[in-house]
Amino acid sequence: KARIAIFISGTGTNMAALLYAGLLETSRYDVVLVASNVPDAQGLEIARAEGIETFVHSHKGHSREEHDAAMEAALIASETEYLVLAGYMRILSDDFVRRWEGRILNIHPSLLPKYKGLDTFARAIAAGDSHAGASVHIVTPELDAGEVLAQAKVAIRECETPQTLAERVKYAEHQLFPRAVTDYVSRPYDARYVYERVRDIALALPETH
Ligand code: GAR
Repeated sequence: KARIAIFISGTGTNMAALLYAGLLETSRYDVVLVASNVPDAQGLEIARAEGIETFVHSHKGHSREEHDAAMEAALIASETEYLVLAGYMRILSDDFVRRWEGRILNIHPSLLPKYKGLDTFARAIAAGDSHAGASVHIVTPELDAGEVLAQAKVAIRECETPQTLAERVKYAEHQLFPRAVTDYVSRPYDARYVYERVRDIALALPETH
């Protein structure tokens, strides 16, 4: 089974959805670590109660690089293969993302490429969109811009407020995220990466006749 770590900053309901899906017998992954930049993040309690290792390192008083280094040391110590961001409200440094390239997934509460960043629900309602939703994507140095792996759509009702929409999108996220993580960790091992590298090497070779 793939070893995944989850970073959270808040309530951790997506972390819990991932955790409980991971405990099912047929699961393709184990949650080996839950880490947070917020010492009293509610999700940490859930993880501890389930006997999952937790790690806390406040970002306050540290540079982004220092903070990321502490979080990364915890990932390495727990032999993490994939990092899953579930409501982790910090931007990771470019170097960190490059070191973990292709091994970090994030869930974002909009139908990307629409509404990167914050206040996604208010923006979708204000725009008169028929649907909001959530996207699971690969994390790249550019914010919310990596390849989208899966999306869940949620209809916007007449009476919707950002709060009611946020709550319903979370229900959809809890279905989407464990499936997207499962698919990603079960994909044929880095087939595309290998293909691209082999092709690059072949293109760089001097022509022989
Ligand atoms: C989720 O809705 C997630 O999409 C969002 O934070 C929420 C976390 O809820 N993530 C972002 O906004 C990332 N920029 P949770 O702590 O209950 O899982």
